[in-house]
Amino acid sequence: MAEVSTSETPQLLRAAKSTVSAQPLIEVCELTKEFSRPDVRPGRFIGTRSLFTRARKITRAVDRVSFQIDAGELVGFLGPNGAGKSTTIKMLTGILVPTSGIVTVAGRTPWRDRRGNARTIGAVFGQRSQLWYDLPLRNSFEIIRDLYAMRPEIYRRRLGEFSELLDLDDFIDTPVRSLSLGQRMRGDLVAAMLYAPPILYLDEPTVGLDVVAKGKIREFVAEINADQGTTIVLTTHDMDDVERLCRRVVIIDHGRLLYEGELETLKAQYVTHREVVVHCTDVDATTITSPHAEVISADTVKARLRFALTATAAPKVIHDLTSRYPITDLSVLEPDLEDVIRHLYTERSRST
Ligand SMILES: Nc1ncnc2c1ncn2[C@@H]1O[C@H](COP(=O)(O)OP(=O)(O)OP(=O)(O)O)[C@@H](O)[C@H]1O
Ligand SMILES: [Mg+2]
Repeated sequence: MAEVSTSETPQLLRAAKSTVSAQPLIEVCELTKEFSRPDVRPGRFIGTRSLFTRARKITRAVDRVSFQIDAGELVGFLGPNGAGKSTTIKMLTGILVPTSGIVTVAGRTPWRDRRGNARTIGAVFGQRSQLWYDLPLRNSFEIIRDLYAMRPEIYRRRLGEFSELLDLDDFIDTPVRSLSLGQRMRGDLVAAMLYAPPILYLDEPTVGLDVVAKGKIREFVAEINADQGTTIVLTTHDMDDVERLCRRVVIIDHGRLLYEGELETLKAQYVTHREVVVHCTDVDATTITSPHAEVISADTVKARLRFALTATAAPKVIHDLTSRYPITDLSVLEPDLEDVIRHLYTERSRST
């Protein structure tokens, strides 16, 4: 985390101005990151050979990825394990230097101006805390207050708001090392947002959390995006996080961009069928049929039917069923995002 110096004020103003200009707040163009490590092959003299030959193995973790994020967006950054998500986030935060390509965040190149960039961003890495391990949470927040030269009344107000949103009171005086994972994650989120950065990177903020803690974190994320206009890039494997929070997604696999766009457009592209579930009490549901849909399962009280979106539409199926059977309840199931994403991964990996 960077100290504040008065010389950074013009940069901060520039960052704030860029949020209202037509320029995207985050712009990534042909971004590439290669890692190189000694190529150790099994053998008797592994150490000696790699030492003398200096053979290196290159991993291209991010491969010519381009995307843009506008101020105020909450974008899901998705991809399977090892896709290159954390590596990209680290380049956006300035922790890693790209091998090639351009990354611009609020008008800056993060790795060239880490200090300036640090004032503009907050980051939470779910796998690793950025808090002071031996100090109570409150002291960690006070260090951040001093590092970022926050005015006391602003600090108190923001901490008060966040404490209420995330129920910090029960554990704010507990050393970080004694916190549960969910409590620690809430502490990390507050630490990242205390100094009101306009951009927040969240790398798996809900990993390993129970449903209640996940819910709290989601509420917080939605609130700071809606109320404070914070631009958020959210990396997660939890499709519920994505469904609840993100309108737009960037998806990568094997370091390459697979999709950038609206979640609904992605679904429309890959969802070919929909399902309806009907309940009835006065008729045996196993007798239900429809010319517009295929029955996939049924028992005496409930039937599940599936129809192709190219052949018919939900209202037609519903009308047919409700006009012919004494139906007590009917629901059209939302397409499963997990299925959509799986479909996308397998289709693209076959085509490359
Ligand atoms: N410091 C490093 N040195 C060498 N290889 C690395 C390094 N960091 C990441 N990699 C490799 O780069 C690739 C992308 O890793 P990355 O951590 O960005 O994936 P990810 O999408 O965040 O995956 P996950 O969902 O598992 O967190 C992987 O093959 C990984 O092994
Ligand atoms: Mg990762």
